[in-house]
Amino acid sequence: MRSALPLIALVVLLTACGGKGGGDESQSSGLGAGVYADAGCGSCHTFEAAGSKGSIGPNLDETDTSVEEAVDQISRGGNGMPAFGDDLSEEEIQQVAEFVSGGEGSAAGAEGGAVVGPFRPSSQRLAGCLDADCRRQAFGNIAFREGPKPALDLFEEKQKDDSAVESDCHRIAHTIGSASLQHFDGSVAGALSAGRATCWSGYYHGVVEHAFNGTRRPALGEKSRSICVGDDIRRTSFIAYQCVHGLGHGLMIHTGYDLPESLRVCDELSTDWDQTSCHAGVFMENVSSSYGIKSKWLRDNDLIYPCNFVKERHKLYCYLMATSRILAANGYDWKKTVATCHESDEGWVATCMQSLGRDASGTTRQNTTRILEICSLAKGMARECVYGAARDIVSNDAGPKRAIPLCEGSPQSMRAYCFEGIGTILGGMRVQRDERRTACRRVTQRYFEDCARGAVAL
Ligand code: HEC
Repeated sequence: MRSALPLIALVVLLTACGGKGGGDESQSSGLGAGVYADAGCGSCHTFEAAGSKGSIGPNLDETDTSVEEAVDQISRGGNGMPAFGDDLSEEEIQQVAEFVSGGEGSAAGAEGGAVVGPFRPSSQRLAGCLDADCRRQAFGNIAFREGPKPALDLFEEKQKDDSAVESDCHRIAHTIGSASLQHFDGSVAGALSAGRATCWSGYYHGVVEHAFNGTRRPALGEKSRSICVGDDIRRTSFIAYQCVHGLGHGLMIHTGYDLPESLRVCDELSTDWDQTSCHAGVFMENVSSSYGIKSKWLRDNDLIYPCNFVKERHKLYCYLMATSRILAANGYDWKKTVATCHESDEGWVATCMQSLGRDASGTTRQNTTRILEICSLAKGMARECVYGAARDIVSNDAGPKRAIPLCEGSPQSMRAYCFEGIGTILGGMRVQRDERRTACRRVTQRYFEDCARGAVAL
């Protein structure tokens, strides 16, 4: 199906949880401690007996987990923790479970499963920041206290002249989103309608991602259906898209990168459109994790995977995202990436080339000349690449202004199709059919019918 709304790449692969945990082994005793250190539990958990100070998962000195519960959590993961069932033996899991549940404690798990933790405010200000974590925190602090508007205003201003802010913009926007959700006391509709789409809509993703805080697995379907409802969210299909797309990100993070489970929950959403928009978020999170975790649903010797593995109905958004994975693995070699796209399942090469255009746009920061150079590498498929790039620019900008020169500067034979691409995204931002066509009037006279065809094709 063609109803594909944009899939938006985050090109930078991140390393958040990479730190070696563990600490001084002589402090701890028993076999469990060794497993704890080797498995890297300490990179996410604070646990005094192991000398670890991770802060992504709960502080294990403060949780009141039985050995059984710990075995379950370690084997199956979830809510932001990866599953260790395949990597550790049953015996090792038992040992490490005994080790971590030994700590006495109160019921700090009361929240019932903070995803990767809600935003924690501090007094940090942007002025003193030297690294990315600090900058995210500083922007989040503003949003937490004053709401998203001042945070996003400052963010957009800094993006113009601070390259560190610019290059980390999607994740900063995520953080502003999650902090704003708390500013609005957990009201997803309130937070979504007060935000905006800066930097591939990272704000919306951040809001929704954290809306799963405290939800247990069996309740995920029901919770998912309850999040993106209401007039504020369904006011435009653009916001609705960002919400449902954000759900996909959130499901992956919440289930500990369980791709099949996340797709299954997406498929419980009420409309086909919701379901596919959700798939988009799932696959985006899979190839470029918001928390620096390498998904086990990626293979180094098969860069098309999992697109060549998932069900037909899940392929569209997988392939629209495929080249982000391929490029990251081959060191941004565009030529090789074109070759790898040709290894896609039959019928999906064109979609992979659209993904190439999306990445050409994202990595060059929408530089028309560079995009056209990269797309020309795709030879006979170059039009698909230009089409993908045009769609990416419109969705990044939430408007057509910078995509128009791309279409106009592309080879004559591709222009009509390029404007159709612009139309698909513009159309998605409006509800009424005639509004969708009208949006194209302001874009192009000559290719109006092409743009309009894209705009109503949803
Ligand atoms: C990538 C980060 C990450 C890693 C690595 C990780 N965990 Fe976790 N862990 C989490 C998160 C997040 C939660 C919270 C899950 C929830 O609330 O349901 C969690 C929850 C737990 C819990 C349940 C705590 C409670 O509140 O009941 C235990 C026990 C646990 N982890 C042990 C471990 C052990 C042992 C390891 C290493 C084998 C490990 N974790 C590795 C992130 C991680």
